Amino acid sequence: MLLALDDDIFDAFLTPEALGRLAGQARVARAGAQDWTGHPDLAEARVVVTGWGSARLDPEVFARAPRLTALVHTAGTVKAVLDPSAWHRPGFVVSSQVEANAAPVAAHTAALVVLALRGTLGLRERYRRDRRDLFTRRGWVTDPSRGLAGRSVGILSASRIGREVIELLRPHPVQVLLYDPYVSPAEAEALGVTWVASLTELAERSDVFSIHAPWLPETEGMVDAEVLAALHDDATVVNTARGAIVDEAALVAELVTGRLNAVLDVTWPEPPADDSPLWDLDNVFLTPHVAGSLGSELAVMGGQAVDEVLRLLAGKALRHEVDPRSFAQQA
Ligand SMILES: NC(=O)c1ccc[n+]([C@@H]2O[C@H](COP(=O)([O-])OP(=O)(O)OC[C@H]3O[C@@H](n4cnc5c(N)ncnc54)[C@H](O)[C@@H]3O)[C@@H](O)[C@H]2O)c1
Repeated sequence: MLLALDDDIFDAFLTPEALGRLAGQARVARAGAQDWTGHPDLAEARVVVTGWGSARLDPEVFARAPRLTALVHTAGTVKAVLDPSAWHRPGFVVSSQVEANAAPVAAHTAALVVLALRGTLGLRERYRRDRRDLFTRRGWVTDPSRGLAGRSVGILSASRIGREVIELLRPHPVQVLLYDPYVSPAEAEALGVTWVASLTELAERSDVFSIHAPWLPETEGMVDAEVLAALHDDATVVNTARGAIVDEAALVAELVTGRLNAVLDVTWPEPPADDSPLWDLDNVFLTPHVAGSLGSELAVMGGQAVDEVLRLLAGKALRHEVDPRSFAQQA
């Protein structure tokens, strides 16, 4: 087995406890994230464990790894590390910890959706500036366009993360709306959300509009100027998915007028250009692509990846296997 992770992230993902569970189960060689494709043991390896920044398993590497039957990824999407042609080899399996990674993204998003609905984001700057004025002004707290009760959250895509956000919003007195071309009205009802027929309708009816689609050729730029124009004044766009799903020039044009607000964990390009207005606008809450697993959460994904390896070694089915049939529609 080759462990294809760089030294600077290795310990965060694969703790001594997790590695201890592998001891005696397999011959393990440690290789760098990029170097693993040239490792002397590649021809013998049956399993490769990949991570952030690992070199891609492409057809040329695969040809030099005739015994390789599994790729176990310690992080979320495997699109950067796997050429789908690997599935042509009979019995080849892939495990990704995308579901473990969905939990922190959903927690991060749901927390910010709640703060956006209550108008809390941006208040810190205003309080610092206006001090006593803001403290005594009743208008702020009596404004019915703030608060959770009766407000609406539009979810773009019932993806794994989209579904978890829906779950996390369930205890709150908000109406959750969903647009997803792959989800029927009956499925939406089972999810406890209101199905809407188009992206524009979702925008029209959302106080907070939260993007959870995968970045695919069909979704690139789907949140365009027309969709953004359908949002009512003072609505908030939340994007923890991928920047390229939004027509960013159209979004910036709305944000600079102050008509809309945005919570952006992702942008396109990433990071934004030095002269992008996104850096300085008070109505933009910008973070550097950190909604996914970080800190103590990384070992959760790494430990789960080790469990997957142990299942393979024991001849059991993977629990987090990537399904090649739905790969094209997934993040
Ligand atoms: N900010 C971060 O740190 C972070 C971390 C992980 C994932 N992400 C991003 O979050 C998003 C959701 O990830 P996921 O793993 O939940 O996605 P996923 O793979 O579960 O999404 C697949 C689903 O998206 C929906 N979908 C497919 N095509 C669509 C289309 N044309 N229009 C609308 N919906 C469509 C379908 O319901 C499909 O089942 C992705 O963009 C992913 O890259 C961000």
